[in-house]
Amino acid sequence: MFGRVKSLDAILATAEKKSLHRSLGAFQLTMLGVGAIIGTGIFVLTAEAAQKAGPGMLLSFVIAGLVCAVAALCYAEMASMVPVSGSAYTYSYAVMGEMIAWMVGWALVLEYAIAAGAVAVGWSGYFTGMLAHLNDYATFLPNIVIPAHLASGPSGGGLINLPAMIIALLVTVLLVVGTKESAVANACLVVVKIVALTAFVVLALPVMHAEKFVPFAPLGFSGISAAAASIFFAYVGFDAVSTAAEETKNPQRNMPIGLIGSLAICTIFYLLVASGVIGSVGAQPMLGADGHGLAPGSSELTAACKGIGDQAVVCSREALAWTLRQIGYPQIGNLVGLAAIMALPSVVLMMMYGQSRIFFVMSRDGLLPEVLSSVHPRFKTPHVITMITGVFVALFAAFFPVGALADISNSGTLFAFAMVAVAVIVLRRTDPNRFRPFRTPAVNVVAPLAVLGSIYLFFSLSWYTLGLFAAWGVAGLVVYFLYSRGNSHVGRGLVEVHEGDVDAPPQPVAPLPGGIELD
Ligand code: ALA
Repeated sequence: MFGRVKSLDAILATAEKKSLHRSLGAFQLTMLGVGAIIGTGIFVLTAEAAQKAGPGMLLSFVIAGLVCAVAALCYAEMASMVPVSGSAYTYSYAVMGEMIAWMVGWALVLEYAIAAGAVAVGWSGYFTGMLAHLNDYATFLPNIVIPAHLASGPSGGGLINLPAMIIALLVTVLLVVGTKESAVANACLVVVKIVALTAFVVLALPVMHAEKFVPFAPLGFSGISAAAASIFFAYVGFDAVSTAAEETKNPQRNMPIGLIGSLAICTIFYLLVASGVIGSVGAQPMLGADGHGLAPGSSELTAACKGIGDQAVVCSREALAWTLRQIGYPQIGNLVGLAAIMALPSVVLMMMYGQSRIFFVMSRDGLLPEVLSSVHPRFKTPHVITMITGVFVALFAAFFPVGALADISNSGTLFAFAMVAVAVIVLRRTDPNRFRPFRTPAVNVVAPLAVLGSIYLFFSLSWYTLGLFAAWGVAGLVVYFLYSRGNSHVGRGLVEVHEGDVDAPPQPVAPLPGGIELD
């Protein structure tokens, strides 16, 4: 089961041959991380976290942030030592063998594709909110109300989430024609997001009332755990930094700074924003007749919210803009909404790009059909896999609520995090003398904590989510044994070194998030 290890030396030899230009410093890496991290999680899922935990969601943000911090330290060791693409998939292939690597790659599909769907649904909430307040932006514009059945999927009481579907398809088109997100564009969007969150904090904190924090945990610690497992989504994306290891100057110093720095910045903002929401408008959950919290995204919650005219943050699909409107800053609320509308599509783009990358590496290893990695003759992009991914992302976005998608994505990400931490522990034992540009500090504590923290959050997800994860895993094993195992290049003894493409699709034209050029 643990055979078929891909030689670490072969992977590294290929990476050396590429000798990418090492241009990224700590600052750019941190910007890259913040660009990938801040998105639907804080802008939208804050409302869902409140519905699950009440004010205790503050603790949920801390717990999820801590699990990510220890996982990030493990990522930093692997990323600086194996600075090639495929991240968790590649590390697992080199350390724990093909089958585990396959399962990790299969789980990363959840992380990236489903996350792209979740962010698209989050975007849709802000977009419909903006249309409904168009007149506030400019008096000559009429407010446009998208009918409820076209603005959310079936479980939210609608039919189809049209805006979410359309943004997912638009991003797909951009990726197919080879849109580049430049470092400058990424930096601008990071500034937009930081300014929006700062404005929120500056306006919301002064109107905080201590009594809004009471009761702190109306649904108990299980509510706090459930919210932590969901809000974990808000931190996902820092692993994008690890994919840039090969382009990083002095990775020993800069990689951990980029990973931990971007996480730290986001954590501080998240705690301030969450405090602002709780303290200003309150964050008590809507309870059913039996005293239980109603499930976010459910038609019961939609109906209960209707009963109070949606006058609670847990009812909002644009939590931060809603809060600002509520505390007397409608214009700034609209601008924060605009910031989300501008910035979230780039997070969708990064996630879908990450997805096509993972499929590429897997298809190049023979584990997926090679046709998936065919490149468009004119656009020079991996159009087949991008379009397949795009159609699925659009369908997820059209029919599923944001929270359910985020939770499913989290299940895949947590699995990958745990495997990276295990890989660090295993490699320290099997190959202790290998040069490690960055060593996870106190590895005997940090790596097991990353594994245990990931397992704890994983099992704090709903049974529904865990069931879907299990079904996805079983499907993965079926594909592996029916197709991938027999076609694997490693299995067939074809461990060729790919000239110049180990870290990228055969002819990469779309750069890494943040505008890192591969060639
Ligand atoms: N962390 C990213 C977000 O919240 C995925 O949108």
